[in-house]
Amino acid sequence: PYPLYAELRKTPVVWAEDGSYVVSTYREIVALLHDPRLSSDRRNFPEYDADAPTQASEEGPAGLPPPFIQTDPPDHDRARRLLTWNFGPPHRPGRIDSMIPDMFGIVTGEIDDFAGKDDVAGKDRSGTTRVDIVDDFAYPFPVTVICRLLGVPRDDEPRFQAMSDAVIKAVDPTTGGITERQRRRDKANADLGQYFAELLDARRGQPGDDLLSGLLSGDGAEAAMPYEQVLSNAALLLVAGHETTVNLITNGMLTLLRHPEVLDRLRRGDEPDLAARVVEELLRYEPPVQFLANSRNTLDDIEVGGTTIPKGSPVTLVLAAGSRDPDFVHDPDRFDPDREHNEHLGFGGGIHYCFGAPLARPETQIALTELACRLRNPRLLADPPPYRASPSLRGPRHLLVEIDG
Ligand code: HEM
Repeated sequence: PYPLYAELRKTPVVWAEDGSYVVSTYREIVALLHDPRLSSDRRNFPEYDADAPTQASEEGPAGLPPPFIQTDPPDHDRARRLLTWNFGPPHRPGRIDSMIPDMFGIVTGEIDDFAGKDDVAGKDRSGTTRVDIVDDFAYPFPVTVICRLLGVPRDDEPRFQAMSDAVIKAVDPTTGGITERQRRRDKANADLGQYFAELLDARRGQPGDDLLSGLLSGDGAEAAMPYEQVLSNAALLLVAGHETTVNLITNGMLTLLRHPEVLDRLRRGDEPDLAARVVEELLRYEPPVQFLANSRNTLDDIEVGGTTIPKGSPVTLVLAAGSRDPDFVHDPDRFDPDREHNEHLGFGGGIHYCFGAPLARPETQIALTELACRLRNPRLLADPPPYRASPSLRGPRHLLVEIDG
């Protein structure tokens, strides 16, 4: 039950050795998520070096504008509006809704690949099969979905994955100082931008029915997004679109296997909103994004939780500690998909509230429901499983499960 978070919550605002302020209580996190004096635009950060241009490793688009997650209003709002228009609910239900049958098709195909056939590797004479929920399922599924949404060839995965890994490493606070990590993040984003420049170049003059084509054309309704912004935001969407969902699906399957009564209810299928409740509770109980490390800086002195955070300070918001704050959540260390109120912080809050939530929710609901219904008698082979290195993006590296048949 995360004893470190309980310890941190005793002091809502803690000054950390790297000079950042760490905030762990629900009320204070929510206040800061909605406070315009807390900037996400790294050009406002004291350590930002405007003379150090962002270079891709080879010739290509250098100095890309920051992706919209790293900007403030009005730039942020303008970019988010354009993306929202092209993405889905509430303005344009079409794109996500039309992907739901696709999602079912991808999920059932993947599960049949490892669970349904007689000749799979790992199947032994005793009639049982070993599967890795991460490599065989939870990773490839959201990758396929985000590729289809953006219009990225699925076969390019080995190429963009190394760059995506580099972004994830750069947001992991255990891998170096704030400035050095920001440099590495810029570099990885620039490399991804270069990848997208080549992709768009190759299909110039043949726009498809995908998000990137829609952004570039303005989709007939809104202004088009400037080309360089499309590159940096495409990189953001590609990374954010799968590195988090893989962990929600895997954390979900692990939690369900530890709570077999909920797995049984999901398998029976007679509670129409159960999958949605399970996913919301997972976002509270085992969220993939545990904290937002140094992604915000104070533009002014901000008083919060009895402490004044001075102007120009990096701030870390421990979302997962807030979602388990006993002052705001009843019995927070219990996994309870039936709870009445679930105002979790799993998708953040305020103007940067997760843009991909309308996609991640159905993806995870479909994935967990189909796993519950199609895997015969699943058993965990290692509990706890090995975890990924990053403490901020938390999820198992492998989740080995044995099934019958
Ligand atoms: C923002 C979590 C899936 C795209 C965020 C934030 C969180 C989050 C906590 C807030 C970041 C901040 O305030 O700095 C998650 C989780 C997911 C998920 C737990 C899956 C279970 C996705 C998907 C996409 C996506 C599938 C894309 C299709 C984004 C973007 C932002 C964002 C673009 C920035 C929004 C903005 O700055 O206005 N996400 N996310 N996310 N997410 Fe997600």
